[in-house]
Amino acid sequence: METLQVKQLNKLFKNLTLEESINKLEDEFPGQRLVFSSSLGLEDQVITDVIFKSDSSIEVFTLDTQRLFKETSDLISRTEDKYQKNIKRYLPNEETVNNYIETVGLNGFYESVDNRKQCCYIRKVEPLNRALQGAKLWITGIRQAQSDFRQNMQLFEYDVERDLIKFNPLLCWTTDDIWNYINQHETPFNELHLTGYPSIGCEPCTRAIKPEEDLRAGRWWWESQGGTKQECGLHITRTEQ
Ligand code: ADX
Ligand code: SF4
Repeated sequence: METLQVKQLNKLFKNLTLEESINKLEDEFPGQRLVFSSSLGLEDQVITDVIFKSDSSIEVFTLDTQRLFKETSDLISRTEDKYQKNIKRYLPNEETVNNYIETVGLNGFYESVDNRKQCCYIRKVEPLNRALQGAKLWITGIRQAQSDFRQNMQLFEYDVERDLIKFNPLLCWTTDDIWNYINQHETPFNELHLTGYPSIGCEPCTRAIKPEEDLRAGRWWWESQGGTKQECGLHITRTEQ
């Protein structure tokens, strides 16, 4: 059933603009909970701009890992001020975070891939699963150009583990497309993007990249020789890890 619906949605939305797509979602999912997860990255600011300028009831939320750059936290407030709309924060469970810190240390994620995945699970994946409860559609800012692993993703996909449909409306956008939109619409963005950070996650796990490096080379860079997919678990199923 879901596969058929996903196939139809992929066909129906293939040639629509971002604005048209966002406006059409409520017709396709009447009365259902539709959510957009924003990391406040450049792509996500484009989607936020469209959602906040529409009358859509799509909920915009962010996973506040409590390890974000100050620039990212400031951008949450700047964005809310500009559009006069709310970005809902989902925080990690305090007790679980404290147990992690007591067991492996605040920055224990540098010591092993397992520690890193556990931290990502506590600070991102579990809060995400909470944020997605009851949602029928989950919008993300994923683009194919971000990594080899993301090349195979689809505009609409069925997320089996979470039993919902995922929508990646910027899947085929180039980096230039994103910047053109941001500049044309004067969309607020994280100034770290101007100093070598195309992809921004938690502060201790993100570094600036050199011009010739992949867009995601600055994420969990110390693991990059180990064949990991440089994914934190938000967009990867347990079998793909
Ligand atoms: S991540 O998996 O490596 O962290 P990335 O930063 O590329 O993901 O972002 C891809 C998409 O995942 C974003 O467009 C957004 O939809 C979602 N996402 C990533 N981090 C967060 C976050 N902290 N809060 C909400 N959504 C996020
Ligand atoms: Fe923890 Fe780093 Fe993952 Fe953030 S990106 S949740 S700090 S391991």
